[in-house]
Amino acid sequence: MTTLKKALIAALKSILRGRSFLQALFAFWISPAAVREHHVNGKAALPRMTVTEFLHDAEQGFLAPLEGEQLRRFSKKLKLQFRERLQSHAESMLPSFNHLLPSGQEKGHYLALDVGGSTLRVALVTLRGREATDRESEIVRMDTFKITPEVKKLEGMSFFDWMAVRISQVIKDDVSHCTPTAPIPMGLAWSFPVEQTSLGGGLLLGMGKGFLATSGLHGQDLGGILKFACSKQGLHVELSAIVNDGSATLLSQAYVHGQTRFGLILGTGANIAVHLPVAAFNRSKFGSRPESWFESASHVIVNTELGMFGHDILPLTRWDELLNAAHPRPDFQPMEHLLSGYYLGEIVRLALIEGIENTEIFGGVVPPSLQAPYSLDTETLSRIEADTTPDFEVALPYFAVTHPSSTKPTAADLGAIRSLATYVSQRSASLLAASIFSLWELRHETEAEYIQSEISSPTPSSARKMSFVHEAKVEHTLPRTKVAFNGSVIERYPGYRESCQGYINALVRGSEHVGQVELVPALESSILGAAVALACVGEQKEDVSAP
Ligand SMILES: *[C@@H]1O[C@H](CO)[C@@H](O)[C@H](O)[C@H]1NC(C)=O
Ligand SMILES: *[C@@H]1O[C@H](CO)[C@@H](O)[C@H](O)[C@H]1NC(C)=O
Repeated sequence: MTTLKKALIAALKSILRGRSFLQALFAFWISPAAVREHHVNGKAALPRMTVTEFLHDAEQGFLAPLEGEQLRRFSKKLKLQFRERLQSHAESMLPSFNHLLPSGQEKGHYLALDVGGSTLRVALVTLRGREATDRESEIVRMDTFKITPEVKKLEGMSFFDWMAVRISQVIKDDVSHCTPTAPIPMGLAWSFPVEQTSLGGGLLLGMGKGFLATSGLHGQDLGGILKFACSKQGLHVELSAIVNDGSATLLSQAYVHGQTRFGLILGTGANIAVHLPVAAFNRSKFGSRPESWFESASHVIVNTELGMFGHDILPLTRWDELLNAAHPRPDFQPMEHLLSGYYLGEIVRLALIEGIENTEIFGGVVPPSLQAPYSLDTETLSRIEADTTPDFEVALPYFAVTHPSSTKPTAADLGAIRSLATYVSQRSASLLAASIFSLWELRHETEAEYIQSEISSPTPSSARKMSFVHEAKVEHTLPRTKVAFNGSVIERYPGYRESCQGYINALVRGSEHVGQVELVPALESSILGAAVALACVGEQKEDVSAP
């Protein structure tokens, strides 16, 4: 068949897909030289659409539904979902036991641990107070221990014994003068599920990620386990604060910036911790905790589990549907799929494969290394977006090595991937901005509702209630809310942070509430957050014992 004849047939076919015959024919006449030999399933074929058309279609799918006021409308729907789950939901909008934000006056030396999927970190942290500008908090000593596959396989107590030896190694010299009657308080950043029973108490739940530490210890108190393991090393410790990564990020920055009310994680996973009034929740959400907790808590740090939101309100493309359908837990974390670094590459891969099969991208040949699910990682997208040279001088060789193929990738091919990466990362940044904005409005609304309900309450206010209302008024008029962030995507993905801040600013400008919302980096957020949480406990204890 002559190429022209093929073009005519393709043009006729395209009519069936709603594209005009002339448009299709023009596409051929305008760039006949651009028609590279195209393969589908190994057979030569003519691309069904131009790259430009394909990318335009993708852009429409990813970004058009969130343009202009639509993003605000989305944030309103999301706010309703947040509100519903303040009333009841077992797995999201979870109030922690942290009800105190640091005053910035906490001072002292603290032992902090950070247990993540691949490292254990043990640190001694000195807090000097907010007025010690740029030296507010300092990690005086920190040792990092790799959690190797062998360590992960340590069953039950053996894992905690391993931890205790490491802790002892780091602090032995400092504590040799301590008497056994005064336990050393510890703060712990724990990146695994835990059922907290108090600020320093938590029942061990399955850790996942290949760990066997919970075997035989499931449901037991983490503090008790650590205490026992450390006692075998001659260390007398007490676990006084457990924080998750979001709370840790919030607390670590709140110590430095008094107006920090959000902790944001956006790396492989996505999550937000936010500070909300206790009155916004259905009491049942707090589980069983002592009345004394409620007597001292006007506000609480909440683990939103943001990833679990967004069902039925997210604008999904066919590629999102494909990802979800192939997922081991479809619909479990709808928002996570559109936000987090774990999925950005996969969405681009799914769109790219459709592009390759229908246009001249990669000459119609899917590189074998891109056929497997999750084979295009966010790091690669980040490198392609970062390369602003016209010929992708840096990204092209990198891509050619990481994804070898019989067809050599061209700058135009990388340009197409970059376009897809931009749509997907911009969509993530705008949805993240909408999530933050929505929670910021929720803070305003729930503070106002609480103040109103107290004012109109017929029972006279106690001194405690009056101080709670005062606190709510301070929160309601906070001029410059800070969102402390941590995570590879928001820290390093080219343009992501700036773009997200831009979307936030536009949403805040159009809000009926007044204020500013600013993203700020949280340095060493886990370790410092654990130390700050511990310092806040010290304050609480002093409060209690004060006459
Ligand atoms: C508060 O929680 C209880 C227990 O889950 C539930 O029965 C009740 O409907 C909730 N209240 C509201 C207003 O949703
Ligand atoms: C984010 O948190 C991790 C773990 O605490 C830390 O290693 C990293 O430095 C943090 N990012 C920033 C910008 O501090």
